[in-house]
Amino acid sequence: MLAIIGGSGLTQLASLEITRREVVRTPYGEPSGALTFGQVCDQAVVFLARHGYGHTIPPHLVNYRANLWALKHVGALGVISVASVGGIREDFGPGVLVVPDQIIDYTWGRKSTYFDALDQPVHHVDFTHPYDQALRQRLLRAAAAAGQAVHDGGVYATTQGPRLETAAEINRFERDGADLVGMTGMPEAVLARELELPYAAINVVANFAAGRASSEQGISFDSIEVVLHEAMLRVRCILDSLCVE
Ligand code: HPA
Repeated sequence: MLAIIGGSGLTQLASLEITRREVVRTPYGEPSGALTFGQVCDQAVVFLARHGYGHTIPPHLVNYRANLWALKHVGALGVISVASVGGIREDFGPGVLVVPDQIIDYTWGRKSTYFDALDQPVHHVDFTHPYDQALRQRLLRAAAAAGQAVHDGGVYATTQGPRLETAAEINRFERDGADLVGMTGMPEAVLARELELPYAAINVVANFAAGRASSEQGISFDSIEVVLHEAMLRVRCILDSLCVE
């Protein structure tokens, strides 16, 4: 079974033939909502809306530990994250889809590990390649099968939010090598790694990041909604093709 965590613009999967919902209790508190189980073509899928089904949980307050633990607990064998981002690179404009391959973490104060007990041996996970290569390839093949253009690779900078960035912060992220900026990629990715859950993401560029191209006058939330709505239709097509093999 594959897990899909939907972000802004994707709070449900239209093509999911729902079989049941389950509220999972975890040692880390409440997940963002009930898990929705079903089928997308022949693939068993469990879906979770990262910000809650009413989109009320801001990025810095998402209970990432509960979300990933719950998905593992119900038997997910891999997690696909759908998340909107700002584009830093010139060719990552609104509407572009990216399957990132690297992460830089600028968040702070989030509960970002399961290994924080004082009475257990210290545990360090390898995180050289934060995204699972096989699951990334599967996403890329699904996109190709669906006839949808996606960029293969990109460095995702995770910021604390919920505010957007300053232009100087975006310049700094670019100097650091970041191509995209979002608020939820971490600690989600590392918690999946700690649970040994293969994890990959499909990022939807909602806007140029602060100070870039058309966002020089500031970022328009109305246009973000329009872009996300259209782009998520393409993301849905890709997710519908995940059963190609
Ligand atoms: N910055 C951070 N997160 C985002 C953005 C952005 O510009 N757009 C969508 N998510």
